[in-house]
Amino acid sequence: MSDSILVTGGTGTLGRLVVGRLLETGADVRVLSRSPRPGTPYAPVRGDLTTGAGLERAVDGVSTVVHLASDFRRPKGDVEGTRRLTQAARAAGAGHLVFISIVGVDRHPYFYYRAKYEAERVVAASGLPYTILRTTQFHDFALFLAQSLARLPVVPVPAGWRMQPVDTSEVAERLVELASAAPAGRVPDMGGPEILPARDLVRAYLSAAGRRRPLVSVRVPGKTAAAFRQGVHLAPGHATGVRTFGEFLAGRVDPARLVSGYGAA
Ligand SMILES: NC(=O)c1ccc[n+]([C@@H]2O[C@H](COP(=O)([O-])OP(=O)(O)OC[C@H]3O[C@@H](n4cnc5c(N)ncnc54)[C@H](OP(=O)(O)O)[C@@H]3O)[C@@H](O)[C@H]2O)c1
Repeated sequence: MSDSILVTGGTGTLGRLVVGRLLETGADVRVLSRSPRPGTPYAPVRGDLTTGAGLERAVDGVSTVVHLASDFRRPKGDVEGTRRLTQAARAAGAGHLVFISIVGVDRHPYFYYRAKYEAERVVAASGLPYTILRTTQFHDFALFLAQSLARLPVVPVPAGWRMQPVDTSEVAERLVELASAAPAGRVPDMGGPEILPARDLVRAYLSAAGRRRPLVSVRVPGKTAAAFRQGVHLAPGHATGVRTFGEFLAGRVDPARLVSGYGAA
């Protein structure tokens, strides 16, 4: 393991787990954040990928960059931020960039996934040795979606949608393994252990939270919804994740406090 690693997005749902595991390996970890907090066990660097502020300092002397940062509301900014980061890392002499991506981004019309694919291509063309891991949706994200839908008295569930959620900590472990290995280009996709209809995910959440709500199936129009029905975002041949969504929910001991990792820092 290289002893100097920059993690972008190290304050996020996945990033917190990656940083925790890297610290366990004894790595010297630096985290880029727009609003770093004091008293962290890693070295925080204030910066912003959309403006380039702090980037030079963030990459100075690091040998590996684990790039997880993303702002769902500004996917074009993610692409430009990835370009800035790869240029800065290359100029600073970094030897490996590990990038997290999403299964099916090269075939999916969803705007966020299209930008993710563009960012993948920026990484591949950057001249930096790289590793790209595409995964399916995280358990935390599936929980967040279920929670959001279940706020309504009658829960709308997109008809025909399925998910293959994967445990966020298993993804973090895989990323740490990849960061310690040689750059490998695009590695095999990583999906969760089971493919579940959206209604089953929502039911599992309601049951774990001890709540009752009627569900109503809603047919969502458009190309993006059709791609989700076709399962472009699924990886049935790469169901390498172990922990099921049910086991993940059960691990959130107190149903009344059942929360996703989003905003739970
Ligand atoms: N969620 C899923 O199901 C899923 C599935 C596959 C892949 N992924 C990918 O995994 C990665 C992490 O996802 P997540 O859900 O853990 O994200 P998240 O919790 O939303 O965290 C986003 C992170 O990005 C950082 N960030 C955002 N804009 C930034 C900017 N302009 N400059 C610097 N840092 C910025 C944030 O840091 P500060 O706020 O501290 O600045 C935060 O640490 C993303 O790239 C996502 O596309 C997610």
